[in-house]
Amino acid sequence: MVDLSVELGPLVLRNPVLSASGTYGHGLEMCHFTPPEEIGGLVSKTVTLLPRAGNEAPRIAETEVGLLNSIGLENKGIDHYVADVLPDMARADTIVVTNIGGESPDDFREMAARLDGEAAIDAFEVNLSCPNVQGGRLPFATDPKTAREVIAGVRAATSKPIFAKLSPNVARISDLALAVEDGGADAITAVNTVLGMALDWRSARPGIATVQGGYSGPAIKPIALRCAWDCARSVSIPVIGCGGIATADDVLEFLVAGCTAIQLGTACFADPALPGRLVRELAALLAEAGIADVKTIIGTVRDGREILASSGAGSPARARETSNEEGLGAR
Ligand code: SIN
Repeated sequence: MVDLSVELGPLVLRNPVLSASGTYGHGLEMCHFTPPEEIGGLVSKTVTLLPRAGNEAPRIAETEVGLLNSIGLENKGIDHYVADVLPDMARADTIVVTNIGGESPDDFREMAARLDGEAAIDAFEVNLSCPNVQGGRLPFATDPKTAREVIAGVRAATSKPIFAKLSPNVARISDLALAVEDGGADAITAVNTVLGMALDWRSARPGIATVQGGYSGPAIKPIALRCAWDCARSVSIPVIGCGGIATADDVLEFLVAGCTAIQLGTACFADPALPGRLVRELAALLAEAGIADVKTIIGTVRDGREILASSGAGSPARARETSNEEGLGAR
């Protein structure tokens, strides 16, 4: 029997597989495909203070290898979430994470304050990284100072664990990771969608009404893996990998890169039963490899830090100073 349990700050998850925000309803909509008790946690769609109608249609375009979306954080607002969604989530036998969104640091703080007393919520995921609001600009996830301010505000408003969801659309994600860790985040979710665009040359029309949107699916896995690895080597808090994950091998790649858990997103649209199945496949793969505890593979990537550590040179900070942008290279 393989031990799949992992720890995300103060939370103990039965396994490292969570749903990704916006791809699995608020969680229980999918319970006939994957019972909540089979997975590590459910992350809600982003909830905001006021209801949001979302962006103009078309809001989704399928591309050759992935999905482009620009939903615009459509949701019915916090009052509806508390009255109509949370009572059901209290029945979910898994970790319940509420993803919160806002247009200002004050919005985020108020969301956390109003939801802090809700017993059904185990943690907040702070959506610093939606690419589809405010004309495609990324005010929170691209500026370390603002990202820190948002997280510090949420930290002051709640004692629940906080996951900070970062964007890949930045030059150096480690700066953002350090900023949110400093602001008081308990974990980092790396990453949200990659900015992209689709168009039909005959009609000259973009695939989605906002022209640019968030690109997801298997094609972004290498980008997400690089971001997650860079975050994990830069901070001491746990990292939750997200982006293009679709198989149990993908899950293990993110764990070896340094992630403590992962989220499944776009792949669930094609197969909502995937989260439960991947947990079973994960256990089988580890058993086959003779690994009894999934925690033992976290961060075992041979990126050069192990050489520095064995030579005595080796703090993570020292490894970062020594490495170039691509890392030290596998040895
Ligand atoms: C959206 O609602 O536009 C997508 C959510 C996100 O990327 O955070």
